[in-house]
Amino acid sequence: MLHIETIADLRSACDRARSDGRRVGLVPTMGFLHEGHRSLMRAARATCDFVVVTIFVNPLQFGAGEDLDRYPRDLTGDLAQCEQVGVAAVFAPSVAEMYPSGRPLTTVHVEGLTSDLCGAARPTHFDGVATVVTKLFAATGSCTAFFGRKDAQQLAVINRLVEDVNLPVQVVGCPIVREPDGLARSSRNAYLSLDQRRAALALSRALQAAASAAIAGERDPSALVDLVRGLVATEPTVALEYVEVRSAPELARVDVLDGEVLLAIAAKVGETRLIDNVTLTVRGAEVHADLGTTELRSEGVRQ
Ligand code: PAJ
Repeated sequence: MLHIETIADLRSACDRARSDGRRVGLVPTMGFLHEGHRSLMRAARATCDFVVVTIFVNPLQFGAGEDLDRYPRDLTGDLAQCEQVGVAAVFAPSVAEMYPSGRPLTTVHVEGLTSDLCGAARPTHFDGVATVVTKLFAATGSCTAFFGRKDAQQLAVINRLVEDVNLPVQVVGCPIVREPDGLARSSRNAYLSLDQRRAALALSRALQAAASAAIAGERDPSALVDLVRGLVATEPTVALEYVEVRSAPELARVDVLDGEVLLAIAAKVGETRLIDNVTLTVRGAEVHADLGTTELRSEGVRQ
């Protein structure tokens, strides 16, 4: 496995792979890898012959007072996991490599999709994400890029970015990976105490209950929102930031459940901000709820 630290080396490794006729797969991450990330790597391996995982804690997407300084990091463990899954290269640049002149003067803003939901509490977050992802796409070149549906708004933003500027990237959204008890995998779960972790289960439980209500015939978005609010309120240590039903992928407000809709939630458990969602596909009386996949196996690298 190649361990690449410069943009120039990433560019030439991907150019070489393509000229050898290999399909390049890209899995952007901020590291402290877990089964959610590994599922993206495996999806990439299934359709691409040269898979690059990027590991970069991007300062631009953290607001003032957020957890940039304490964001969990473990490059050695991450490299071992990438090797184990069989990726071809890891790109782990320094901040100076990515932002040699400090804060970039050129940033990428995806209008409309970024101002509410997570963007309401994190007004600069998606500009930081869109900017770094554009830089990674530009350095990688033509590729298939894999992102998790856990970050549903991020996925919508990246899809729109690729469409708007005709980047030579095919974006693939992958299912949410959950722990056996339902908690969505996240690097930030490492911040949770045992009590907080137990309380955080209210989020996936509430989404599951809302999905069941939709399957039982509920079509009123505000009824689902109220149901989720009520269930989360039973855990006083969980502070809801938002619960919203939106159309996918436009993220527009909806009056009635129809077609593909996203029920998305954000909450703080102590200082830790968590997000989760379920996608509901409603066709007449039929509802398909996609909560993602529960981990049935552990790969033993890091729990
Ligand atoms: P990070 O939070 O490390 O996530 C990297 C990728 O893993 C994202 O596409 C995210 O949606 C996916 N992912 C995280 N947890 C997941 C889970 N439980 N199930 C499925 N996929 C999961 O998202 C970022 O980093 C950054 O914003 C990034 C895109 C790398 C830009 O800096």
